[in-house]
Amino acid sequence: MTIVLLGYMASGKSSVSKLLGQELKLPVIDLDIYIEKKEKLSIREIFVSKGEIYFRMKEHQYLKEILETKEATIISLGGGTPCYANNMKLIHEYTEHTFYLQTSIPEIINRVKDEKSQRPLISAITDEDLPEFIGKHLFERNTFYQEATHTVFTDKKEIKELVEEIKAILN
Ligand code: S3P
Repeated sequence: MTIVLLGYMASGKSSVSKLLGQELKLPVIDLDIYIEKKEKLSIREIFVSKGEIYFRMKEHQYLKEILETKEATIISLGGGTPCYANNMKLIHEYTEHTFYLQTSIPEIINRVKDEKSQRPLISAITDEDLPEFIGKHLFERNTFYQEATHTVFTDKKEIKELVEEIKAILN
């Protein structure tokens, strides 16, 4: 069984996938980490030195590579993965277990405001402009995120609770 977790930056994809992997005894692949290892550069460095289009091409290529192994895995996507290169269509060809970790705009702002520098897409946005940027960005991405088979709301929930919710849906 392959499980795919998606959602905006800071929606908890990486933390949830780690715990879910432990509980279901499945290997976990964090797509961002996979890309960093393959490219021998951090995501931030890839954005700075090669640009976002290069990053999106590699993101698609490595996602395909992971899915094609057809091994039971939990894959934690990057926040933008569902929105480019027909990636959701590709994912649906391999699994029906896709989960959108939905987080509200205020909650996202809260979670990312002190770590903007590590996130290339928002590092140049001022704190003042952040709510509008994230609001618009989520609006644009929503159609892609909604293509997930299941939606789990993350606001005010512990990682453990989210994992339990996902397990209940899978059963
Ligand atoms: C991105 C989210 C990041 C990373 C890259 C682009 C996005 O992943 O893939 O910086 O487009 O939202 P996380 O959602 O894991 O932060």
